[in-house]
Amino acid sequence: MGFSESISSVVHKLSTASATTLAIIIFSTLLVCGYSIKIMGNNVASSTLDRRSTAIQVIHSCGKGQYLKGKVAIVTGGNTGIGLETCKALLSAGCKVYLCSRSKQGGLNAIEEEIKTLGKGNYKVDPENCNNILVNELDLNDLNTVKKFAEDFLKVESRLDLLVLNAGIMATPKRELTVQGFEKQLGVNHFGHSYLTNLLKPLMIKQDFESRIVCLSSVAHSMSDIDFDDFFFENKRSYKPMVVYGQSKLCNLLYAKALANKLKDTKVTAVSVHPGVIATGLWNNYGVFVKTLANAFIMDKNIPQGAATTIYACVHPRISNPDLRGAYLADCAPALPKTAIACDNNNEWSNKLYDFTEEQLKLKFN
Ligand SMILES: NC(=O)c1ccc[n+]([C@@H]2O[C@H](COP(=O)([O-])OP(=O)(O)OC[C@H]3O[C@@H](n4cnc5c(N)ncnc54)[C@H](OP(=O)(O)O)[C@@H]3O)[C@@H](O)[C@H]2O)c1
Repeated sequence: MGFSESISSVVHKLSTASATTLAIIIFSTLLVCGYSIKIMGNNVASSTLDRRSTAIQVIHSCGKGQYLKGKVAIVTGGNTGIGLETCKALLSAGCKVYLCSRSKQGGLNAIEEEIKTLGKGNYKVDPENCNNILVNELDLNDLNTVKKFAEDFLKVESRLDLLVLNAGIMATPKRELTVQGFEKQLGVNHFGHSYLTNLLKPLMIKQDFESRIVCLSSVAHSMSDIDFDDFFFENKRSYKPMVVYGQSKLCNLLYAKALANKLKDTKVTAVSVHPGVIATGLWNNYGVFVKTLANAFIMDKNIPQGAATTIYACVHPRISNPDLRGAYLADCAPALPKTAIACDNNNEWSNKLYDFTEEQLKLKFN
């Protein structure tokens, strides 16, 4: 090797090494910056309800002591994440909670690990209240289990104050179908919940007191529109995991709006919620790299903060205001949906979705 070749080889090696080093330095700096901004944000104390509020703070700000005693709530996907924190906060104010879980054992473990202990929310539920939570199996992937849960519930309960449609899956890598043949993300996130609502709604409608249906949507509603000619991503549109998730979350938002309109002459209201972006099992379809980046840059809340807007939707007196029927909520306040279709100013999309949903449920499951 001549002198000039040696020099160029050394320069090449150095530049490759320094490019790698530079990339590592930039990546690490960005991560540190991302985390620092998040930590600063989470540490700012707040006297009013906002994006930093936790579920238990919302509970305490809306009433005193056991003010939910005598009320009954159902929370789907209650065994983990936002749903579990929602169950815990409601239970702590005396509400009777039906925790729905795909597996009974998963729900029972959750009570031991998060509800009877300080857990992520850093508070325990009074042992007396712990008898007031009931674990039930419900798999939104199979409408037979939804039917069984609803029938069992209606046999033993005569009231339902809060129906929290929380369970969800995100970014299933390949197109899969539910037992009844719905694309899986749409089937679990939207159709399973709509079917459950259909079965429980008659009880809520006949009650002479206020009740609420809370649909967990997401800011991801802006990642898709709705194409009724290819709703299930079978023909015209190719299957893109996050786009399908986006459509399912848009459905949750529009469904709450449609329900609120259909039920406007009753004491039942419905709202949708963006909980924040939170590190939970929802992200498990992504690898470590994406999760680390998401954690540093887009995740903006911890789990107790992530359940705060759901609790706000359940207990805040402001939600009784007729102007907030069907509203989209974020950071413990009403928020503007991100797209024109989600704003749905003339109710065209929500009405169409409602009718389409009813038709599909009849078609695929009687
Ligand atoms: N985390 C976020 O960044 C974020 C952002 C916006 C919106 N959301 C929404 O918030 C809701 C709660 O999500 P999370 O973050 O708390 O996620 P999570 O921790 O993964 O909880 C999801 C829950 O849904 C349940 N679930 C999944 N498939 C089900 C099925 N087929 N039948 C019944 N239950 C099923 C899960 O049960 P298993 O434990 O058995 O899987 C789990 O209990 C979801 O609707 C999600 O779309 C979350």
